[in-house]
Amino acid sequence: EKEKTLAMIKPDGVAGNYSDVIKTAIFYSGFSITQEMLLELNEETVRSFYAEHATKSFFPSLVQYMSSGPVLIMVLEKVNAISDWRNLIGPTDANKAKVTHPNSIRAMCGLDLQRNCVHGSDSPQSAYREITFFFNKSSSGYVSRHD
Ligand code: CMP
Repeated sequence: EKEKTLAMIKPDGVAGNYSDVIKTAIFYSGFSITQEMLLELNEETVRSFYAEHATKSFFPSLVQYMSSGPVLIMVLEKVNAISDWRNLIGPTDANKAKVTHPNSIRAMCGLDLQRNCVHGSDSPQSAYREITFFFNKSSSGYVSRHD
C-alpha cells in the first residue's frame, strides 16, 4: 500500500545548497515527489506546525531557526514512505548521525541537534496532519473532488 509523508528541507539545508542532492537521494530511494513548495515560514506558522513541542525549552530557538530562511516542503509517496524516509534521514541529532548513520541525510548535511537539515513525519497521523497543514486535502489525494 502506497503511503505519503511530509518531508522538509530546513533553512540550513536550503541555504547550504543541499536541495538537489537530497532530491537525488529521494528519487534514488524510490520515492515520488507529488507536491513541492519553497517558502519562508513566519514565526506563527512554525509555532503552529511544531505545537507539540511548545512546552520544550528549545522551542523559542526552534521557532527562530525555522523562520530564519526558506524551506523546501515536499510530499513523498511510496510503499512505507513514512518509516523509509525517517530511516533515510537518520537520527534527530546530526552529530550522532555522523557516528551511527554515516550514510544518512542528516549525517551529510545536518549541523547539530537543532539544525538537522531535514524533517520527516513520524507516524501516519502526523503525516496526515503535516501534509494537510501545508497542502489542501483534495490536491493531496485525501478526499475526492466531489467530497
Ligand atoms: P524535527 O524532526 O523536525 O522535530 C522537531 C525539531 O526540533 C527537531 O527536528 C530539531 O530540529 C529540533 N529539536 C529536537 N530536539 C531538540 C533539542 N533537544 N534541542 C534543540 N532542538 C531540538
